[in-house]
Amino acid sequence: MSKDKNLPDSSNKHTSTINRRNFLGKTAMAGAGLTLASLAWGSSKVQAKDYSVGQKGSPIGETRKLGSLEVSPIGLGCMSMSSGSYNPPRSKEDMIPVIRGAVDRGVTFFDTAEYYGPFTNEELVGEALAPVRDDVVIATKFGFEFENDQPVGRNSRPEHIRQAVEGMLQRLQTDRIDLLYCHRIDPEVPIEDVAGTVSELIEEGKARHFGLSETSPETTRRAHTEQPVTALQTEYSLIQRFPENQVLDTCEELGIGFVPWGPVCRGFLGDKFNEYSLFSEDCRLDAVEYFTPEALEANMALLDLVRKWSVRKDATPAQLALGWLMAQKPFIVPIPGTTKLHHLEENLGALEVKFTAEELEEFRKDFSDIELVGVRSFDSALTDK
Ligand SMILES: NC(=O)c1ccc[n+]([C@@H]2O[C@H](COP(=O)([O-])OP(=O)(O)OC[C@H]3O[C@@H](n4cnc5c(N)ncnc54)[C@H](OP(=O)(O)O)[C@@H]3O)[C@@H](O)[C@H]2O)c1
Repeated sequence: MSKDKNLPDSSNKHTSTINRRNFLGKTAMAGAGLTLASLAWGSSKVQAKDYSVGQKGSPIGETRKLGSLEVSPIGLGCMSMSSGSYNPPRSKEDMIPVIRGAVDRGVTFFDTAEYYGPFTNEELVGEALAPVRDDVVIATKFGFEFENDQPVGRNSRPEHIRQAVEGMLQRLQTDRIDLLYCHRIDPEVPIEDVAGTVSELIEEGKARHFGLSETSPETTRRAHTEQPVTALQTEYSLIQRFPENQVLDTCEELGIGFVPWGPVCRGFLGDKFNEYSLFSEDCRLDAVEYFTPEALEANMALLDLVRKWSVRKDATPAQLALGWLMAQKPFIVPIPGTTKLHHLEENLGALEVKFTAEELEEFRKDFSDIELVGVRSFDSALTDK
């Protein structure tokens, strides 16, 4: 999992020149927050920060609710810092400033999993956030069995969940997990048993909230009966729109928050790739359905549309893509992943991208005409992945 992948950069021959144009405009708010944060990260005893998100002086100034859990409206996905999925794993020295930079800019919601690394991503997140532990929400995920630090299959048996959580608490340097997700359904274990185990962990104070990932509406509903589900984390973006309707409707009906992973399509909607992009054979992006040469070529039509709309909305393509996601439902909190502080700042600028109902309709009409390639089937929303 944590093997170096030496992924080459794509040949970005057609990188848009318009997409960064107003970048500073949309990041001014995030930058201004820095002066308010006054965190002393460098000292051994870090003082509590003098603001929290949603309160006066917060760099972000607004929050969203996932069930009863209040978080910044955009979180930070930490996976690619350690997983080797999109870039070689980065060092702690390089990534801790990105995570703490997110806190300084008002982000309170951090996403990791024992699978990422495995384990090293939780260690990184734990170390980075330890000084401000009480001011942030840490989400992590169980559901796999590991041997010699490699995943060997799914495992959500109650005793395994308990064992996994003990490891998480240690690696995250904490006494409770704010949002504990089941990463993938274990076909051998009824979801009621999984939910029941998390319910016990919540009673014991080791977890605060229960989350699911990539579950069907039926499984989500069954789990919610046993232990209220706070958030469902599933892929959702302008390319992958399969959760629309049934999945989002279920979340709305049950009061479950929705956390889209892959919100900028692994960089595609950040204008990072184009039809000329090539990946080396050992690059994991090569295995992504919407990164085959045919898909990249076909999907440029969507990127062109996103670029066009980003000019109209005075935003960058990534900001447009994230703003569009947040405009779908008030309980949606995307967690774009990045290893770069300037991308994080750019992504936070999406908070200023607002759509009217007419614009949303017009945009949907425009993109509905595009034939995308590499799209997950609608059925994948209805089955447990
Ligand atoms: N539940 C699940 O099954 C599941 C699966 C996958 C991921 N996740 C979680 O969801 C998080 C986000 O998903 P993801 O990382 O797969 O996909 P993503 O957020 O759509 O894409 C991340 C990639 O996009 C690039 N990027 C981010 N912002 C950008 C910008 N403004 N401009 C250009 N490129 C940009 C990043 O590169 P740079 O590093 O160069 O910025 C990174 O390689 C993960 O970190 C992880 O925590 C969960």
